[in-house]
Amino acid sequence: MHCDLLITNIGQLLTCASGGKPKRGADMLDLGIIADGAVAINGGKFVAVGPRTDGESQFEPTETIDADGKVVCPGFVDPHTHIVYAGDRLNEFELKIKGADYLDILAAGGGIVSTVSKTREATFEELVEQSRKRLDKMLACGTTTAEVKTGYGLNTESELKMLRVIEELDKTHAVDLVPTFLAAHAAPPEFKGNTEGYVDLICNEMLPAAWAWYQDSHFFSESVPFFADVFCERNAFDREQSGRVLETAASLGFKLKAHVDQFTNLGGSAFAIAAKAASIDHLDAISDEEISLLAGSNTAGVVIPTENFSAGKTQFADVRRMIDAGCAISISTDFNPGSAPCPSVPMAMAIATRYQKLLPSEAMNAATINAAFAIGLGETRGSIEVGKNADMLIVNSHDYRQISYEFGGNLVSKVVKAGAVLLEARN
Ligand code: NIG
Ligand code: FE
Repeated sequence: MHCDLLITNIGQLLTCASGGKPKRGADMLDLGIIADGAVAINGGKFVAVGPRTDGESQFEPTETIDADGKVVCPGFVDPHTHIVYAGDRLNEFELKIKGADYLDILAAGGGIVSTVSKTREATFEELVEQSRKRLDKMLACGTTTAEVKTGYGLNTESELKMLRVIEELDKTHAVDLVPTFLAAHAAPPEFKGNTEGYVDLICNEMLPAAWAWYQDSHFFSESVPFFADVFCERNAFDREQSGRVLETAASLGFKLKAHVDQFTNLGGSAFAIAAKAASIDHLDAISDEEISLLAGSNTAGVVIPTENFSAGKTQFADVRRMIDAGCAISISTDFNPGSAPCPSVPMAMAIATRYQKLLPSEAMNAATINAAFAIGLGETRGSIEVGKNADMLIVNSHDYRQISYEFGGNLVSKVVKAGAVLLEARN
């Protein structure tokens, strides 16, 4: 039988196979490892996955890669990023080192709002070029699919510009993207002291305009979901304002996400779970009761260890407790200029294993199959299973635990995306 690509002599083939649902509880420990495995790819999809001795010889591949006994895993799925922006926040980095607080910087017109003025000024082309470089870095670290949010435009015109940038990047860059509309990231300067007025604008004008854009976009024609998100936090949007945004978005057809409990518990988690959000993200200040609600729901929990690390915090979201309670947990980088300037999912795994006490196997499932479910792509991404998109990594190690163990370098040796070898490192 013909196939485009055969990858053989795989020491540990991490399938992360999940039977069509996200992993919970003790299942997070199971990576579905096949020792001495092989994978056949045809037409951009996996057509055979199994031990090398099981029928590898039936294939006549166009190309064969000998993995030399190394680890092969699914391409990473990053379920929460803000990579479309202009400018940088290097001054703020120094202010924070000297003791300034993230929410105080935001209240003083810095933080997210300072990135907004740069992003409004930037042309479509400038934003595409700057953001493309960030996607290149993510791909080099093994990310093959990512969610990307707007949220640095904060008016109709600039938020739509960001959506068009995300669409252009999806069409022209190998990493597959899922768009999220985050007009409710912060109130822009022209609405300072009038957050209610900005929420009216979001509900009456921006969300409908974004939904109309989506219906004409290639995301819609390719059945990629479109999410609406809100930053439910002190100095951003309170519970009622967040609720109005999410309810309006749901009535238009958006799927929902929410930034909740990053610093302060405003009740956003319970609300978003009841609103059947696809995911709730951050979760540092989530209550025990909300953890139980999350565990009993179809909402995914996305945790962001890079944010705590970047802020120099010693407290992290209690992911151990969430996994043990049965929540479907995934990990993201949150790649953004303010709170987490990190393109690397393995770095997020390195932090989560140390500070949140995930085992390397749990971190791997959280960064692949569970992350795919958190962005509505669990049917096609996140695991090495027959019929799924052939997105996978060859890792320069014989033991998958090294992916979480080592940090500061890059163990990704080859990235295969939809069956094509995109990147070959010299490691
Ligand atoms: O997820 N929490 C709000 N949004 C981002 C930070 C964005 C920024 O600071 O520019 C986050 O941490
Ligand atoms: Fe975020």
